[in-house]
Amino acid sequence: MNKIKIGIIGTGNIAKTHGGNLQSIPDVLLGSVFDINTKSSQAFAREFGMTVRNSIEEVFSDSDAVYITVPNKLHAELSLEALAAGKHVFCEKPFALNIGDAEKIVNAVNDAGVIYQLGFNRRFAPVYKKMKDFILGGDLVPVSFNIKMNRGELQTPPWTSNPEITGGFLFESTLHLIDMVCYLFGEVKKVTAVGSKTIYPCVDDFSMIFEMENGIHGVLSSSAHTTWMYPFERVEVYGNHFAISNDEMESVTYCSGLDQPYCQETFSTLPIEKRWGFIQEDSLFIARLLGKQEGDMDLIATHIDGYKNVELIENIYQQIGLGR
Ligand SMILES: NC(=O)c1ccc[n+]([C@@H]2O[C@H](COP(=O)([O-])OP(=O)(O)OC[C@H]3O[C@@H](n4cnc5c(N)ncnc54)[C@H](O)[C@@H]3O)[C@@H](O)[C@H]2O)c1
Repeated sequence: MNKIKIGIIGTGNIAKTHGGNLQSIPDVLLGSVFDINTKSSQAFAREFGMTVRNSIEEVFSDSDAVYITVPNKLHAELSLEALAAGKHVFCEKPFALNIGDAEKIVNAVNDAGVIYQLGFNRRFAPVYKKMKDFILGGDLVPVSFNIKMNRGELQTPPWTSNPEITGGFLFESTLHLIDMVCYLFGEVKKVTAVGSKTIYPCVDDFSMIFEMENGIHGVLSSSAHTTWMYPFERVEVYGNHFAISNDEMESVTYCSGLDQPYCQETFSTLPIEKRWGFIQEDSLFIARLLGKQEGDMDLIATHIDGYKNVELIENIYQQIGLGR
């Protein structure tokens, strides 16, 4: 069987994670890379046995599928170019930074008839998979939720506080948990939000109330200046005398009834790529390209999920009225 030839645009931090994962998948041939920083692309190419190209077009012409792992503000533009070239796309989150671009990508994916996957690794992380499995299996019937998704600072790297590059703090780590709300609980009927701009030159604190179409409701708070006090990320779900919560991607704790002991599963012994769901999302992307995917399809974040996220986030920023 032919191997899938992968091109990578952007050779920074997250590209290294994907590069390492892809290297371990036998059906993958790591092909070529492009980065505006040639030192970075050369070092990356050396590490993963790839070829450095001088433009994205050269990478496209040399690949079956491309990974887009550049800063947020470039995702829409590069996704559209890759789709126009007929390439399958794995794009890191966020999908796009405004609804106009989101709509263009949805149309382009449909027109190109290729596979498009968004990098929402948390869907694949064992802690969240456990929650989803309890819900799908009917053991946990969620009624409400309480979520926090914090960041310690917006200083490293410095551009993380620049909404011109990120699209706003909500498009950073918070987005993973906005996606999680939709992934675990379904369609959002209404979101009500307040926020403030205090420590950084972007809206850096959010309190949001979600009402879902199926009646589930909950809160999500997100602050960008909390220090890295553990855990910075936690989802608590409350159901039919069933409660479950996680501490980042390290452990999940649940109690399945009033007369039940509570149980904890800890994943800290797993390599981080597996604990955070990165290897699983890359493996599934490649399996989809090979037409070999079985099960787990509900884990995939598609262009439709991406569109809905952007729509929600624009709505939240409009309600707060302080810009990005
Ligand atoms: N899923 C996750 O958990 C996760 C984690 C980290 C980052 N990300 C996302 O991945 C993306 C990249 O983040 P990162 O931490 O790797 O950033 P990074 O700054 O480490 O890497 C980005 C790379 O893109 C290159 N680049 C910039 N403009 C380019 C262009 N026009 N053409 C080609 N290359 C260009 C830069 O030179 C740099 O090497 C961001 O959108 C971020 O949100 C996702």
